[in-house]
Amino acid sequence: MKRIFSGVQPSGNLHLGNYLGAIRNFVTLQQDNDCIYCVVDQHAITLWQDPAELRQRTREVTAGYLAAGIDPKTSIIFNQSQVAAHAQLAWVFNCVARIGWLNRMTQFKDKAGKNREKASSGLYVYPNLMAADILVYKGTHVPVGENQKQHLELTRDIAQKFNNDFGVEFFPIVEPLIQGTATRVMSLRDGSKKMSSSDASDASRINMTDDADAVAKKVRRATSDSELLPDPSVVGADGQFAEDFRQARPEAANLLTIFAALTNRDLAAVVGDFEGKGFADFKKEMTEVAVGTMGQIGAEMKRMVDDPAFVDSVLRDGAERARALADPILAEVYDIVGFLRP
Ligand code: TYM
Repeated sequence: MKRIFSGVQPSGNLHLGNYLGAIRNFVTLQQDNDCIYCVVDQHAITLWQDPAELRQRTREVTAGYLAAGIDPKTSIIFNQSQVAAHAQLAWVFNCVARIGWLNRMTQFKDKAGKNREKASSGLYVYPNLMAADILVYKGTHVPVGENQKQHLELTRDIAQKFNNDFGVEFFPIVEPLIQGTATRVMSLRDGSKKMSSSDASDASRINMTDDADAVAKKVRRATSDSELLPDPSVVGADGQFAEDFRQARPEAANLLTIFAALTNRDLAAVVGDFEGKGFADFKKEMTEVAVGTMGQIGAEMKRMVDDPAFVDSVLRDGAERARALADPILAEVYDIVGFLRP
């Protein structure tokens, strides 16, 4: 059986990118696998978080998991800070990972921006904690969006180096699961930028808590171009848009990709349906589809956020089950490394 691990940061609004790129896949993977889904609050504080907001957002991400359909009885849902073994293993990995490896991480470069000297040291070693999150459960498969691929390659390197250094076959070499049509959802305002909770413009994203009116307005106002919609020849054999089409018409590519993902249909079939039509017709249908899916999840999320006692009980139970899995694995790591446990 595969052991699935993944996480989402409680550092901003959950949006359509998080849903299509990650959370929706968490739900499908539950059927035949052993799944652990984490709200990674320790990752969130690598950038400043207001404490009251962090608590609120931790509950919100938990509510998002539940509203999307993760079953807290079969899967484990918890917040990272409640299972000490993550940070404990991360320290060991700080001593396994090489500075040269971390220097290549593009997310650090993006998030630290021009003023690297002022970035927290946590932001720099963030990928080591991410490797610990997964490997403290000996996770084998990790569903994520495209932008986390480099971090998972680092996780593989860390596992391999640990195994080599200590002459053991201890950690598995994880497989990224980058699934579905929408592994990289772009901004609704600028199709060349990733949809992100840190974008200053709320119109750039559909938040999982947006109500029907907000979703409809954002779809209507989404940037488009002046041409008619293309024919299916722009879809490659891999079922995705060809790179030159994406470059030439990023907004058309993004909106059609989102539509295909939301309706669970092949991209080529969707493109075929809209071939030669204008954006006005397309957006009318897209509004209906987006409101149908996201509106429902948003309403359910709101209901749960209003019941913090329930959300907290899910996290408490999840943390207990997670600790029971992680603690024995960490103890074995400590033995391998040579930490005396008198
Ligand atoms: P985070 O919180 O930024 O994003 C959570 C998940 O959403 C995906 N995602 C997207 N997918 C498609 N299009 C987008 N525009 C988009 N934006 C976000 C992300 O790829 C991710 O899967 N480092 C991770 C959290 C993490 C983690 C882990 C993940 C910590 N430990 C261990 C897996 C395993 C992060 O910052 O994701």
